[in-house]
Amino acid sequence: MFDVVTFGSATWDIFIRDKKFSLEKENNLFDKKGIRFPLGAKIDIDEIKFSSGGGGTNTAASFSYQGLKTAYCGMLGDDPAGEYILTELKRLKIDTSLIKKSSKKPTNHSIIISIPNKDRTILIYRGASGDLSSKDVDWQKVAKAKWIYIAPLSHRNPSLLEGIVNFAHKKKIKVALNPSNAQLSMPREKMTRILKKTDILFLNQEEASKLARVAHKQEKKIVDKITNYYPGIFVMTKGERGATVVSQASRYDFGIIKGKVVDRTGAGDSFASGFVSGMILKDDIEYAIQLAAANSTSCLSEWGAKNGLLKKNQSFKKIKIKKRDEKISQKSS
Ligand SMILES: Nc1ncnc2c1ncn2[C@@H]1O[C@H](COP(=O)(O)OP(=O)(O)OP(=O)(O)O)[C@@H](O)[C@H]1O
Ligand SMILES: [Mg+2]
Repeated sequence: MFDVVTFGSATWDIFIRDKKFSLEKENNLFDKKGIRFPLGAKIDIDEIKFSSGGGGTNTAASFSYQGLKTAYCGMLGDDPAGEYILTELKRLKIDTSLIKKSSKKPTNHSIIISIPNKDRTILIYRGASGDLSSKDVDWQKVAKAKWIYIAPLSHRNPSLLEGIVNFAHKKKIKVALNPSNAQLSMPREKMTRILKKTDILFLNQEEASKLARVAHKQEKKIVDKITNYYPGIFVMTKGERGATVVSQASRYDFGIIKGKVVDRTGAGDSFASGFVSGMILKDDIEYAIQLAAANSTSCLSEWGAKNGLLKKNQSFKKIKIKKRDEKISQKSS
């Protein structure tokens, strides 16, 4: 029996940090800022670190640290990075028996180039993770889960999401979903059909604005539009402005627990997996919010998406939650 099975990417992350990297003005870039390297040069770097990443394995790490029986289901490449990830997952006591190896593509890789105390640029190779299809999944084993957590899935296999959600629905397994951008662009009816079979939906404000088809700035309108038809718990994260959670009965608004930010990789994953852990452990939204906020602050205080995650029974600072009782039916009338 598993408390939770996670789906989503598994990547091998390579972190490169150097004080010498500097922000350069680049008028033709979106943010008008960039990191520039001279062509043909060899550049010595100060610091390099490695760890596993990707939404599927990051969230599995959180669940396992919270003492939940966790399995990760995904595809790795048949290569050293795939082996490193397997070793790390086993060290984290995550069941790896649902993992498959691709003969076609190398393991996903991310190269994270960061300027200390500034920001980072990530180069991503999307490889083996996107090859997972329904036929690779050991459904008999997945059927033993109480919860399924679905991190963003690759656009290369558009039917996988609906396959997982339908299976969970049939087997009465609860589902938490953090859809990918590609999934948010799905035909409206199909997306609505899928969402109605999930229990918790996580979106950042940008993604929520895309799903709702409401301008990014119109925060209240975005939340109202989604919660008018979404039957589960809707969670919209807003980066350093915190998040909003809406259930059938109540709405909760809260900010962040401030802490030092070493590396912001994994903010979304640690928040969502902290929240779901709280729901699995206590079935209490306020406790889930506390664990989510604390897990993300703790995650950002270390480099990498897994190194700073909270451990079971580790104490943490609490956040102030503004709770309002408001029935969905009243809101839409
Ligand atoms: N600087 C910060 N300090 C503390 N907590 C933070 C910070 N940034 C984000 N968080 C927490 O993490 C949550 C998720 O962050 P965000 O909204 O940026 O998600 P995301 O865009 O999905 O992130 P990701 O890029 O990891 O996918 C926020 O709601 C907030 O609670
Ligand atoms: Mg995210």
